Amino acid sequence: MAKKIKRYFLTDENNQKLTELNCHDSTLGPDVLDVTPLYTDTGMLTYDPGFNSTASCKSKITFVDGEKGTLLYRGYEIDDLARNSNFLEVAYLLLEGELPDKKEFSEFEYSIRTHTMLNEQLHTFFNGFRRDAHPMAIMVGVVGALSAFYNDSTDFTDRKKRIITSRRLIAKMPTIAAMAYKYSIGQPFMYPNNALGYSENFLQMMFGTPCDPYKVNPSVAKALDNILILHADHEQNASTSTVRMAGSTGANPFACIASGIASLWGPAHGGANEAVIKMLKKIGDKKNIKGFIEDVKSHKTRLMGFGHRVYKNYDPRAKVIRESAHHVLKSMGRNDPLMELAMELEAIALKDEYFIERKLYPNVDFYSGIIFKAMGIPESMYTVIFSVARTVGWIAQWTEMYGDSDSKIARPRQLYIGKTERKYKKK
Ligand code: ACO
Repeated sequence: MAKKIKRYFLTDENNQKLTELNCHDSTLGPDVLDVTPLYTDTGMLTYDPGFNSTASCKSKITFVDGEKGTLLYRGYEIDDLARNSNFLEVAYLLLEGELPDKKEFSEFEYSIRTHTMLNEQLHTFFNGFRRDAHPMAIMVGVVGALSAFYNDSTDFTDRKKRIITSRRLIAKMPTIAAMAYKYSIGQPFMYPNNALGYSENFLQMMFGTPCDPYKVNPSVAKALDNILILHADHEQNASTSTVRMAGSTGANPFACIASGIASLWGPAHGGANEAVIKMLKKIGDKKNIKGFIEDVKSHKTRLMGFGHRVYKNYDPRAKVIRESAHHVLKSMGRNDPLMELAMELEAIALKDEYFIERKLYPNVDFYSGIIFKAMGIPESMYTVIFSVARTVGWIAQWTEMYGDSDSKIARPRQLYIGKTERKYKKK
């Protein structure tokens, strides 16, 4: 028997029916009211700044339950994947919908390993930046510039073209990220070494030099791989929505990903991990936590790494990363006072009425900076690494959008509150 569609009626104050709205069933999470006939039937629009109550698309990729604090990639719990999988396997899962078998994985991994090099001409782009440029500025510029190198077709309705584009992007992001770092410290660029795995190769390009052979620390490579898994996708967040929006015009995918990087850079989004370390350094000592919390509560500042638009519970990624931070510090024989400070700050905030009332819990960024710091990664590179991981999610979502017959150019409307029409009169 066909499933009954739930319908809702919008009526005016005299109970006259204005329109009839269908409700789409979700497999998990809230059902969604389809407001597409609203304007035609009533001449009215919906108003939802920040998209608190708006589903911008249908998606099968990632599910976040903000109340429970769960995150699923294609139905698998993030914690399960972080413990048992690796980044490239997760990338395949996000892109293709299923975990790869052995053959599929080796074909995918080989393809990524052999697309890591950049066109040599791209090296000249880096020289145009000041040495003190933020690496995210370089990322936006250089990834955007890739569109000039791969603009063979704008017809991405062809699945083969989408596949090759996604592999190029995933493979080249670590190379560009490491080059942005090398440029900022004045060291020669390191070419990718295709004998190495994804995370190992990235570390080699970041920390190796042509003068000395670089030995990758396996615990550091494992921790990095884990961080990449945790950051790979997060449904329709600001940067992903930016990529989908840019992509909805049919724009070149490299340019779309550059727009995602720009959106991720903001301190309210991916830039928060860098902001957390800056905040912890500023607090400096456990004895200053109380005063800092008072400043937060009087809205003088924000507790960075806390709060999330969707999570009203502990971010499940923060749980994994907190554990991983302990592991990395231990394996490197380090005892970071910032970790101690962060744990104390977390404990105090979680007991404070201000944070309890507003359901503010640590998000993924609260502890990621501490791991990066232990790995010797400079603050300015934290969001860059986030962008390397999130490229997988962006490209999976961009690909999904192309395959969705409901997709349209994204063109929101507005509630106009400006002047009404008036005649020009010189002042
Ligand atoms: N510190 C102090 N107060 C906060 C914080 C915070 N980190 N986050 C939210 N609040 C307060 C707000 O002041 C507001 O209080 P009020 O009702 O008294 O005015 C209330 O909680 C609701 O806050 P909003 O800003 O409306 O919540 P929103 O969902 O829009 O914001 C955001 C989410 C931007 C992530 C916010 O929590 C924040 O700025 N956090 C710090 C930055 C951060 O860690 N960002 C990373 C997010 S995860 C990611 O992108 C990977």
